[in-house]
Amino acid sequence: MAKGRDTTAVPPAYRGKETSFIKHELLKAYLKRLFLIIGMSAQRLGFAELCYVDGFAGPWQDESDDLGSTSIAISFRILDECRKELEKQNRSLRIRALYVERDKTAFARLENYLREQTPAGIDTKAFQGDFVELQEAVLDWCASRGFAFFFLDPKGWMPVGVKVLRPLLARPHSEFLINFMYDFVSRAASMGDFQEHMVDVLGERVDVLDLHGVAREKRILGVYRRNLKLSMPATSRWPARSAYVRVLDRWKERTKYHLVYLTGHPHGIVVFMEISEGVALVQKLIRASTKQASRVQRTGQAELFGAGDLIESDGPSIEIAEVEEFWLGRLSSEPTRFRETEFADLLEETD
Ligand SMILES: C[S@@+](CC[C@H](N)C(=O)[O-])C[C@H]1O[C@@H](n2cnc3c(N)ncnc32)[C@H](O)[C@@H]1O
Repeated sequence: MAKGRDTTAVPPAYRGKETSFIKHELLKAYLKRLFLIIGMSAQRLGFAELCYVDGFAGPWQDESDDLGSTSIAISFRILDECRKELEKQNRSLRIRALYVERDKTAFARLENYLREQTPAGIDTKAFQGDFVELQEAVLDWCASRGFAFFFLDPKGWMPVGVKVLRPLLARPHSEFLINFMYDFVSRAASMGDFQEHMVDVLGERVDVLDLHGVAREKRILGVYRRNLKLSMPATSRWPARSAYVRVLDRWKERTKYHLVYLTGHPHGIVVFMEISEGVALVQKLIRASTKQASRVQRTGQAELFGAGDLIESDGPSIEIAEVEEFWLGRLSSEPTRFRETEFADLLEETD
């Protein structure tokens, strides 16, 4: 996929905010698959509407009129494509979108954009204010017979803490994509002043003082995901499930944030992981091309190979011995059928 591509990996509008491009690639690809899948079965599932909620909408770091590098413009494009596709398939249902933004200036631009650019056939609405305080109004806006997807992408971590999100997480027929600012959370987790906040954010007290690197990340993220899931409606047949994409710092080999995904359906996990595989490749390509551009600028010398060729040398993300060990632990002398549910369990368990 990436071979032969180079510094053109990131569209100009995303230069300097490359990690947003990764986030948006995931949002774009997943939202489209999700709304088409649910839309095609909406009648059978009893959904009259598809609702999209952007809880921290912006616009943010994009001064252009077309807001080309924002989640707002991306959602317009995807919702429009979904509506047209579903209509072609004779599956007409209402598609609605809600955008929440606290900042006054950003909100004025958001409202203006909604007024001028809302695609035909999509109902859009904007609320100004603090998303945390507006949660009840947001829930009221989501019709009870609607399926809802929540994109929660604040700049910090407080508004997406487990305690804060509980009312929203309890909504049935909902999926979530949450930006979990691990870099900030991990630093705060070692500071005495933040311990009470940490309990609210992660859902319980977590002692990570002696943990570093991957072990620390696994523990913090694991507790956060587990407690988010515990707040979701679940039955033994349909347990709450979660997966994530790790987004690295542009320059350092360090996690910047995780995009945490929550669903009640095993198919959601399988589709999300499939899409996240493609996004991981985009991320590798962007990192390689960003580093290459910086090298070229520093040395003044062009390089023989494109960034796409350089990522070929990146090793696999998991050791084959680990995969073997996992499967050997699973196999038995009896034939075992791995259906979608078991596959989703496996994906969740191994990430
Ligand atoms: C990271 S930016 C959003 C980027 C946008 N989702 C995108 O992908 O293009 C976060 C936005 O949320 C807004 N914001 C921060 N805290 C908020 C809150 N508590 N309630 C509502 N909006 C908030 C900020 O003003 C900013 O515009």
